[in-house]
Amino acid sequence: MTTAPAVLVALTAQQRIGGLVVALVLLGLAGYSIYHLRRQLPGIPPGAEIELAPNRRPFFDDDIMEGPRLERAQWGALGCLVVIAIGLPLYWFNEPTRQQHATFGFDKRAAYRGFLLFQPADSPIPTHNVGHFGCATCHGSAGQGGAAKFTITSTNPNTPPRTVSWKAPPLNTVLLRYTPEAVTTIITYGRANTPMPAWGVAGGGAMNDQQIQDLVTYLKTIQLRSDEARNQALQEGLDGAKLFDANCSRCHTLGWSYGESSVVGGGAYGPNITAGAEVRQFPDAKDQIDFIANGVAFGKPYGTRGIGVTCIAVQNNPCTSPGGGMPFFGGMLSQEQIAAIVSYERGL
Ligand code: HEC
Ligand code: HEC
Repeated sequence: MTTAPAVLVALTAQQRIGGLVVALVLLGLAGYSIYHLRRQLPGIPPGAEIELAPNRRPFFDDDIMEGPRLERAQWGALGCLVVIAIGLPLYWFNEPTRQQHATFGFDKRAAYRGFLLFQPADSPIPTHNVGHFGCATCHGSAGQGGAAKFTITSTNPNTPPRTVSWKAPPLNTVLLRYTPEAVTTIITYGRANTPMPAWGVAGGGAMNDQQIQDLVTYLKTIQLRSDEARNQALQEGLDGAKLFDANCSRCHTLGWSYGESSVVGGGAYGPNITAGAEVRQFPDAKDQIDFIANGVAFGKPYGTRGIGVTCIAVQNNPCTSPGGGMPFFGGMLSQEQIAAIVSYERGL
C-alpha cells in the first residue's frame, strides 16, 4: 500500500474538497474546448453554417408571443413568487432558533477552551493549541478548592522566610459571590501577597482578554446552583462563629489561610471588623445583613461611612478595574445564616 504524499496529508478536508472542485472545473473546460475545436472539421470553410445561424431563423409570431408563451412565463413568475413569499418567512421563522444555537455553540467552545486553560500543566488531556495554565493545581480539579505552597517573607530580618500551605478557595461557587466582571478583575490582577498570581497582560501575566473570558465562561459551567451551595453551607448550621470561619476569616483574619490565625476578624485583605467597628459602621444590624447579602458596588456608600473602594490600581491610573473585594453572600448563605454571622461579628 502506498501512503499519501505529505502535502496531501497536511491539507484539511475543506482544502481537499476545494481542490477537487477546481480540478473538475478545469477538466470540464478542457473537454468543452476540445469538443468544439474538433467540431470545426477541416474542409468546411468558416461561415458555411450561416444559413442556420439562430439569429436568422424565423421565430414565433406576435399572437403566440403575446399569448400562451407570455402566459407560461407569467405562471413561472407567479410560481417563483409563491416560493419566495412562503419560503422567506419560513426561513426567518427559524432564524431566532438558529441564532440561539449559534450562541450556544459559541459559549460551548469558549467554555471548552476555558476548561483546557484550567487544567494542570501535566494533564494528559491534549492542549489543542490552547494550553494548560494550571488553575486546577491550586483550586482543585473541579474547582472545589485546594491549597498551594507559598513562601512568606517578613519585614523583620530576624524572621527567615518560611513556606506555608495556603488554602485556595473553591471556584465552583465564585459566581454566587462575585459578578463575572469582578471575577475577570481577580483573574487579571491576581491577589497580591497570596499564591494567586496575576494572569492577565494588564496585571503582568501571560493571558490575553480572550483567554480570561474563556476561563470565566468555563467557571460559569461548573457553578453549583444557589440551593446546592446553600445546602452545603447548611452543614455549618446556624453557628455564627463556624460560619464566619468558613466564609469570612480568609479575608478578615490575618494568617487564617495558612493555619496561623491571629486576631479573629482583625483584618487581612478585608478591614478590621472587631472592637465594635461594625456596630459603628452599621448602627442597625439589618443594614449589615443587607451589606453581606448584597455587597456594595464600587464607589457606592454603605453603612455610616463606608464606600465600596476595593479596586485594583494600575500605575498612575487608579481604579481602572473595580471589584473583587468584599463578595456578596446572599446566593450561597441563607438569610438566617447571615443574621447569625452578623450577630457574631457585632460581638467581636
Ligand atoms: C499557585 C496557586 C494558584 C493558581 C495556579 C491559581 N490560583 Fe486562583 N487563587 C489562589 C489562592 C491561594 C487564592 C486566594 C487568595 C486569598 O487568600 O485571598 C486564589 C483566588 C482566586 C480567585 C478569587 C476567589 C475568591 O473567592 O476570592 C479566583 C476567581 C481565582 N483564584 C481564579 C483562578 C484561575 C482562573 C486560575 C487559573 C488561571 C487560578 N486562580 C490559578 C491560588 C492559585
Ligand atoms: C475575598 C475577601 C473577603 C471575604 C471572603 C469577605 N470579605 Fe468582608 N470585606 C472584604 C473587603 C475587601 C472589604 C472592604 C470593602 C470594600 O473595599 O469594598 C470588606 C468589608 C466588610 C465589612 C465592612 C467593614 C467596614 O467596617 O466597612 C463587613 C462587615 C464584612 N466585610 C463582613 C464580611 C463577612 C461577614 C464575610 C463572610 C460572610 C466577609 N466579609 C467575607 C473582603 C472580604
